[in-house]
Amino acid sequence: MHKAIDEVKKMLQNYSSVWGNELYLEKALAEVLVQPVAPPKPKAVPKQAPKPRLSSQKIPAQRSPELQSFYLQMKACTKCALSESRNNLVFGWGNPNANLMLIGEAPGHDEDVQGIPFVGRAGQLLDKMLLASGLKREDIYIANMLKCRPPGNRDPLPEEIIKCEPYLRRQLEIIKPKVLMALGRVAGQSLLKTQDSLSRLREQTHHYNNIPLLVTYHPAALLRNPRWKQSSWQDLKKIKKLLQNV
Ligand code: URA
Repeated sequence: MHKAIDEVKKMLQNYSSVWGNELYLEKALAEVLVQPVAPPKPKAVPKQAPKPRLSSQKIPAQRSPELQSFYLQMKACTKCALSESRNNLVFGWGNPNANLMLIGEAPGHDEDVQGIPFVGRAGQLLDKMLLASGLKREDIYIANMLKCRPPGNRDPLPEEIIKCEPYLRRQLEIIKPKVLMALGRVAGQSLLKTQDSLSRLREQTHHYNNIPLLVTYHPAALLRNPRWKQSSWQDLKKIKKLLQNV
């Protein structure tokens, strides 16, 4: 009994650390409580920029032979100048049979060091949001538009997107997700080849490669503007609805 109470306490603490004290949810929390999902523990990241370069770091293998073999083929990519400054190419990570694929913009510092997407502060918030909304991180695949970190986290350049996008398309062919969610304006605009604002992009279900696509806030933007969390909660509910119909 005590264990169950501790579990409920832990889940509520996680929930309130993401969504604050307002209870947006009804059924989703119950689902999380019944089936808590432990997100993968991010490895400790050194504070200082790593030296020497960490390109030999061990990155866990993809969980499907086809994805792993594609990763091995493209991991030494030199199609653009980002290959010169990267520590690691960040291919993507998650369930190779995922119905839902999340697509971010580009790796940041922590992701470049570890070779895994969304392991920094934004990634930790993303984990908590998924957990609190009842979407299981273990069921999802996460990748980025760009596989290498732009210096200083600047926005991707159009030519970088053009060169990197075929990798994302190939990942989609292999994983065959049923629903896509773009994280942030830049990912949404790059996928949809538009300059529409994030609020406009959030209004409707789009398609990319014939797959339904929703666009929502980037978790880093939610760290800067927590008042957007309520809207992002609405987006997560839309995603769950789309997933129920696939
Ligand atoms: N931001 C992104 O868009 N992708 C990551 O992998 C990390 C931060």
